[in-house]
Amino acid sequence: MKLVLATNNMGKVREFARILEPLGISLLTQQQAGVQVQPEENGTTFAENARIKAMAVYQATGLPTIADDSGLCIDALDGQPGVYSARYYGEDTPYTEKNRYILSQLERLPQETRTARIVAHNTSVLTPEQNLACAKDCESPIGKAPARAGGFGYDPIFYVGDKSFAQLDGEAKDAVSHRGKALAKLYEQFKKLQEN
Ligand code: IMP
Repeated sequence: MKLVLATNNMGKVREFARILEPLGISLLTQQQAGVQVQPEENGTTFAENARIKAMAVYQATGLPTIADDSGLCIDALDGQPGVYSARYYGEDTPYTEKNRYILSQLERLPQETRTARIVAHNTSVLTPEQNLACAKDCESPIGKAPARAGGFGYDPIFYVGDKSFAQLDGEAKDAVSHRGKALAKLYEQFKKLQEN
């Protein structure tokens, strides 16, 4: 199966390829599919925005498309950045600064109230009538300081045990991450479709 991946976020492209290609699903980036679509993400939920992105790229390419809408929800910030994760503290602000800003807002909070989750919703538009959707999250606290190695986005401040997401190697992150779990669920749905 071939899917166009509706994103310009290279961190997501790497993770999708790492998770789906070993399962026999080949991915085309928007660039490889010859389109440059950036729909306005004006939904108020992850599910709505995933569908907006998948549908826009499906309409531009006519090819089966998958999109993911994801974000970090921090309890002490009333769920922010949430669906606005990419735009939070300025769309073009480097993540080092966004992460520093978040840590400064949580500065005085003890570990037990730094609870958060990263959420991933994916929507696949196979035809206009045949859509699949999966959602999963990964619950873990925000650390006290950023720890960087790989990863992208909010990975350096999101801690699973004593390591941030950015310090986990790809396979270790995928085994526990929102995206890894949501794509595993999606793969089960694809398999069922193929069996029918
Ligand atoms: P969108 O889904 O493209 O609207 O953007 C989601 C934003 O959430 C990304 O730009 C990242 O900042 C953040 N995000 C999503 N998934 C992850 C992840 O796995 N690690 C760190 N940050 C993430």
